[in-house]
Amino acid sequence: MNEKTANLSQERVAYLEGLVSQGRTAAAVFTQCTQEDVDRIVKPMVLAGQKQAQYLARLAIEETKLGVMEDKVIKNMVATEFVYNYVKDKRTVGVIREFPDRGLIEMAEPIGVIFSLIPITNPTSTVLFKCIMAIKTRNAVIFSPHPNAWRCCREAVRIMYETAVKHGAPEGVFACLESHTLEDNAYLMRHKDVGLIDATGGPGAVKAAYSSGKPALGVGPGNTPVYLEKSADLNMAVVDIIISKTFDNGTICASEQTVVIDDEIYDAAVKKFADLGAHVCNSKETELLSCTVIDPNTGFMQPMAVGQRAIDIARFVGLSVKPNTKLLVTPIQGVGREHPLSVEKLFPVLAIYRAKSADEALKVCVDVNHAGGLGHTAVIFSRNDEIIRKFGEMMNAGRIIVNSPGSIGALGGVYNDMVPTFSFGCGTGGGNSTTDNVNVYHYLNIKRLARRTQPHMWFRIPNQIYFNVNAVENLRNFPSRSTIIVTSPPLEQIGHADIVRRYISPQTQVHVSVIPDAEPELKTVMDGVEALNFYKADQIIALGGGSVIDAAKMMKLKYESPEADFEELGAPFLDLRKRVVQYPTQKVNQARLVAISTTSGTGSEVTPFAVLFDKANGRKVTLADYSLSPDVAIVDPQFVMSMPKGLTADTGIDCLTHALEAAVSSYASPYTDSNAMQAIRLAFKYLPIAYEYPHDEEARNMMHNAACIAAIAFSNASVGVNHALAHAFGARFGIAHGRANALMLPHVIAYNAAVPAKFMPSPNQPGYVAHRKYAMIAELLGLGGHTVEEKVKNLIGAVEQLLDQLGMPRSIAALGISKGALEQAMPDLVKLAFADPSWLSNPRMPLVKELEELFWSAFHGRGLAKAVGAVQQQIS
Ligand SMILES: [Fe+2]
Repeated sequence: MNEKTANLSQERVAYLEGLVSQGRTAAAVFTQCTQEDVDRIVKPMVLAGQKQAQYLARLAIEETKLGVMEDKVIKNMVATEFVYNYVKDKRTVGVIREFPDRGLIEMAEPIGVIFSLIPITNPTSTVLFKCIMAIKTRNAVIFSPHPNAWRCCREAVRIMYETAVKHGAPEGVFACLESHTLEDNAYLMRHKDVGLIDATGGPGAVKAAYSSGKPALGVGPGNTPVYLEKSADLNMAVVDIIISKTFDNGTICASEQTVVIDDEIYDAAVKKFADLGAHVCNSKETELLSCTVIDPNTGFMQPMAVGQRAIDIARFVGLSVKPNTKLLVTPIQGVGREHPLSVEKLFPVLAIYRAKSADEALKVCVDVNHAGGLGHTAVIFSRNDEIIRKFGEMMNAGRIIVNSPGSIGALGGVYNDMVPTFSFGCGTGGGNSTTDNVNVYHYLNIKRLARRTQPHMWFRIPNQIYFNVNAVENLRNFPSRSTIIVTSPPLEQIGHADIVRRYISPQTQVHVSVIPDAEPELKTVMDGVEALNFYKADQIIALGGGSVIDAAKMMKLKYESPEADFEELGAPFLDLRKRVVQYPTQKVNQARLVAISTTSGTGSEVTPFAVLFDKANGRKVTLADYSLSPDVAIVDPQFVMSMPKGLTADTGIDCLTHALEAAVSSYASPYTDSNAMQAIRLAFKYLPIAYEYPHDEEARNMMHNAACIAAIAFSNASVGVNHALAHAFGARFGIAHGRANALMLPHVIAYNAAVPAKFMPSPNQPGYVAHRKYAMIAELLGLGGHTVEEKVKNLIGAVEQLLDQLGMPRSIAALGISKGALEQAMPDLVKLAFADPSWLSNPRMPLVKELEELFWSAFHGRGLAKAVGAVQQQIS
């Protein structure tokens, strides 16, 4: 009970409870019906409604005293025949739609008991329409008709109910309130067993429905503007407007209210209205109508005029009109309270407005639309498609009817292909939940069964990779008019650039652009672009380590697409396939990029990544896109034979880390695995030899290949948390990248092999497999072990042994960094590591506190036994 239902007697409450209980039981029984069952019931209901269309129309006229009998017959026919035509083949039970391509199935579930308000303007047609929808969707309905349309509605419900039950619908599926009070409505609207309120009625009923706190379908009032544009077929337009505005004496809320007419055709349109039976009022007559059919206090239409004939309205207010007058046309000069006839008038009084221009016409239509008709209906007559679209964009209306009658057009199915309805959703503008023509789908809870979909994966690499000693000779295969060699001072000095130059055709103009072999800066890149433009280069040969090749990638990007904005292109993303920023495809220049790597670590010669250091602004921008990948990669070990031991170890461990991280990445695939596993095998076998015996050509060659192969894996599978930690640590303490990786590597393997505190959402991988991947690697390396735990432990042991062999520092403490210094740096380190995109593909989602724990594990180094113990305890 609340204040609105406090006046209900116990008997009345018992009566209302009985209706709900009966509806609930019927709805429960109804859930057992199949699609075939409901379709078998719906068809005879439709036929019964059609058969009784005239009888029900007469009853409605007799009781409500408004509208036109002949038109009400048409309404009843549309509510049955047209609605049936729309719903007959629709699936509304069980699986209703399937989308195999998307792995989606939609299933329908009935609502249960619907409480439905029926308006006085379209009483029997609305009942017929809602009964058919309810049976089609297996719902029970309690109808509450307008008090002055109760008898005709009750009869319509009876006809539908008896036919439905006769053909298999459950007893009690429809009920009609015996009489109507606002208290009854309030009680039922708040009843816990009423699932939905379908309020077709005046603004009060709609507001009450939405205020009840229940899900509600409510339709708001209209105030349909019509733009009669100068290019329109005038004869058709005026006839359509008269048909529509006089249909059932204007009771359909979508009917035309104010016609805005272009100046050029205004006089002809007015004459046409008069010729076709309208009475065009003079200013005095318009004034008279303004203060009689519109309530001067509220500004709304007078109920006594609703649904009345034009001649009766004229007689009532004292206008002298011809006996066959079907419409009263009232010129108005504006919209709003000062122009009373600019509001909704559910009777055959039509305002017209003379517009001096299209802009003015559109503005006045917007004003009418906003004067009580938001979200409802708007109409345009025009042959100008541009104007039609502009009108459509400007109107806030669920239905924009083009070159056809507004009222019958909005009903759907007669003049257009909209869904037939007797309930017009008006969207949020009208305070409604939908802009749709309300239909069967609004009487269903539609469930979506979504199957797991396997996202498309990819494997992309440069289409030409030349490897082994003297692979550089392949430069001869690439004709060029103008080539720029991008390299670093030491490589220029030791003659590497000369070796390259030797294999470039003598006809080619060759220029060497020497850049500092350090972090590529924006200025370095832009200087390179200037040189490329100056020499009109068609080939760039990048000869160097990761930084030189990265710089060349960015030079090429900016040379080919000068509008490329590094800052914007460096925007973070979660999934390459769904990234917001797209790399430019329009090119003003074209140059082939040949990458010759002089270290065996980053693999930049095949990766789609480039890192730019914008020192002026203190920023680092990471670019990632396959358009950055070099066109040709040359993996020639002659350029790495002179690498010092420390660099050999650092870059070799970077290569191993790339492969180990790619192998367990959430983006790993059989394609990347094959490369990652082989790179790991090569690194374990040849890195110690290349380190101990720098002149061993085979070891150098194989490590050079391993770096490239690992890069192919991580170009497609990315890296993981090891890199996030190493990037942060290396940047903060100035430690070489490979060395920083080495400090973290055994700890990260143990971390990834344990049961995650937080799993990483990953549609690419079924289940958690990181520990099994590590075990597979241990098997590949022949490390022994019987269980997954033993194999992981052996892998960690083998990594540690390799690090020892390479003389790598085995703890942060061993680097001379104190506990206090690490403690002080920790907030920054954790922040940097967590902001690093590298971990996004890690198999385990790192919590911030775990990142901190990993840094501390790396600090202590040999405390690994604890981590390995955790692996043994947790994984299976
Ligand atoms: Fe790396």
